[in-house]
Amino acid sequence: MSDGPPGELVRGLVEGPSVVTAVEWHPAIGSTNERAAALAGEGAPEGVLVLADEQTAGRGRRGRPWSAPAGSSLLSSVLLRPAVEAHLLGALPLVVGLAVAEAVAPHAPGAEVTLKWPNDVLADGRKLAGVLVQRTADACVVGVGLNVDWRDVTRPPELAGRATSLAELAGGAVDRWRVLAGYVGVLGNRYDAWLVQPWSALAAYRGSCATLGQQVRVSPAGGDAPYVASATGVAEDGALEILRDGRSQRLHAGEVTHLRPVTPSP
Ligand code: BTN
Repeated sequence: MSDGPPGELVRGLVEGPSVVTAVEWHPAIGSTNERAAALAGEGAPEGVLVLADEQTAGRGRRGRPWSAPAGSSLLSSVLLRPAVEAHLLGALPLVVGLAVAEAVAPHAPGAEVTLKWPNDVLADGRKLAGVLVQRTADACVVGVGLNVDWRDVTRPPELAGRATSLAELAGGAVDRWRVLAGYVGVLGNRYDAWLVQPWSALAAYRGSCATLGQQVRVSPAGGDAPYVASATGVAEDGALEILRDGRSQRLHAGEVTHLRPVTPSP
C-alpha cells in the first residue's frame, strides 16, 4: 500500500494561498467524488481535497466505471462552491481540464498536451487524464483521474494504444505528489480567474483544445443518433460550437470523436 501525501505538502497546501482548505487521504475508497459529495452535503467548506490510492467504485463520464490499479494514478476530488451564474457552471469542467493539462505539461517533456472537448487531457493524442465534475445541491465536486505510472499495468483491450501515463511519457518514475502540488496551484489560479472573468478565462482553453478545427463525430447525450459536424468554437457556458449541415449549433453535453482537420472550402 502506498503512503499518502507528505505532511509537508499537505501543510503547504492547506496553509498556503491555494484553493485547498483541508486534505483527506484514503488508501482505498469507493469514489473520491462520492466522498466529496457527501462532505458537501454535510456543509463542508470550499477547498476540501479528497485523495485516494485506489477506488473500488470510481466513476467516469457518462456513467462509465473508472478503474486504476493502486499506486498508478492521482485520484482526487476537490469540493468547490463557485459563486457564478448557474448557466456558466458548464464551463467549470473545461477550466479544470485546462488546469490539469497545464500542470502535467512540465512532467511530459516533448509530448504535445492537448484537450479534447469537454475535458479529456491528451498527450500525443492518447488519454492521460479524465475530469468528472459533479454538481450537488449547492456545490461542485471536481474529480480528476490522472495516469501517473502505468508502465507495469496491462491495459484492457479497449484502452490499449489509446491511453498513456506520465511515467511512460517521461521515460521514468514521476512523483505524483509533485504533480498534485502543481495541479492544485494551477487550478487555484485558473479557478479564481474564471470566477472574475468567465469569458476571458476560456481563451487559454480554446488555445489548447485539439477539438477546434476538427471534423468530429458527435454522440449526443441521451442516446440520439450520432452525426458528423465541424467544431468551430467554445461558448462561455462551456458548450461546443459546431457547424452541422451548414447551421451553427451548440452542443452542451455529449461526446466527440476527432475525425480529421476541417479543410477550408475552395
Ligand atoms: C472520464 O470519464 O474521463 C472522467 C474520469 C474521472 C475519474 C476521477 S478519479 C477521481 C474522481 N473520483 C471518481 O469516482 N471519478 C473521478
